Amino acid sequence: MSVLDIVNLENFRKVFRNIRKVGLLTTIRYIVSDLLFDMKYRIDTINTEQLENLDIDSPNKQYGVYYEGTNAYIFKKTFSSFKVDAANSCFVDFGSGKGKAMFMAAERGFRKVIGVEFSRELVETCRRNLEIFKQKSKSKTEFEIIHGDASQYEIPAEANLLFFSNPFNETLTTKVIENILRSHNKAPREIWVIHLYPQGNMAFARHPRFQLEHESRDGFIFRLKPGA
Ligand SMILES: C[S@@+](CC[C@H](N)C(=O)[O-])C[C@H]1O[C@@H](n2cnc3c(N)ncnc32)[C@H](O)[C@@H]1O
Repeated sequence: MSVLDIVNLENFRKVFRNIRKVGLLTTIRYIVSDLLFDMKYRIDTINTEQLENLDIDSPNKQYGVYYEGTNAYIFKKTFSSFKVDAANSCFVDFGSGKGKAMFMAAERGFRKVIGVEFSRELVETCRRNLEIFKQKSKSKTEFEIIHGDASQYEIPAEANLLFFSNPFNETLTTKVIENILRSHNKAPREIWVIHLYPQGNMAFARHPRFQLEHESRDGFIFRLKPGA
């Protein structure tokens, strides 16, 4: 990826949005952390992609949010606010895009990382990025990339950290919550949910089974309460 690849209207918009929201200094932190991440592995996760330009075979496209990688600085800050035994944990990214959050989770030493993404092109990019990431990082994490709709995904018994970086709206999040509860009923375990950039989506926050553990400007961390 060259400097020219990131000089585009969408990235300028993103910068101005962030300056308005979090100020100049934090925006600079965001930009630097994202540039360093892509430069470290020589992959492209910075550039956004609009869903209307992508091949998506799902009626839930209408509920989805365009691709924008989770900011590296925010991801790091989120993990500093709670403890998780990464070496014995399985991280699932709902709407994994080009794989950025998956790779950042692997950097934190997760035993297994799963990404679910419904855009064919983004899955292909993610697979390419993953090959490069594995070579450069020598990561021992086990990876799985699933091409499909995250609301149809049957959550495996090993999944215990569920990651949502504003992938879709409240309607679809409510469906995924049913899947989480079903998975937990079959295999009771401690489940954590990270919900970043919720943009008014209060599906987890309102749900009686999710206990709010941490709240910041960037989003929420919840713990699933044991069933009644
Ligand atoms: C804001 S991006 C987050 C990207 C990624 N999680 C990251 O942190 O780098 C949202 C992603 O969710 C995907 N998405 C939206 N709705 C989806 C659905 N129903 N099933 C699977 N992926 C979905 C979009 O294609 C996009 O890649």
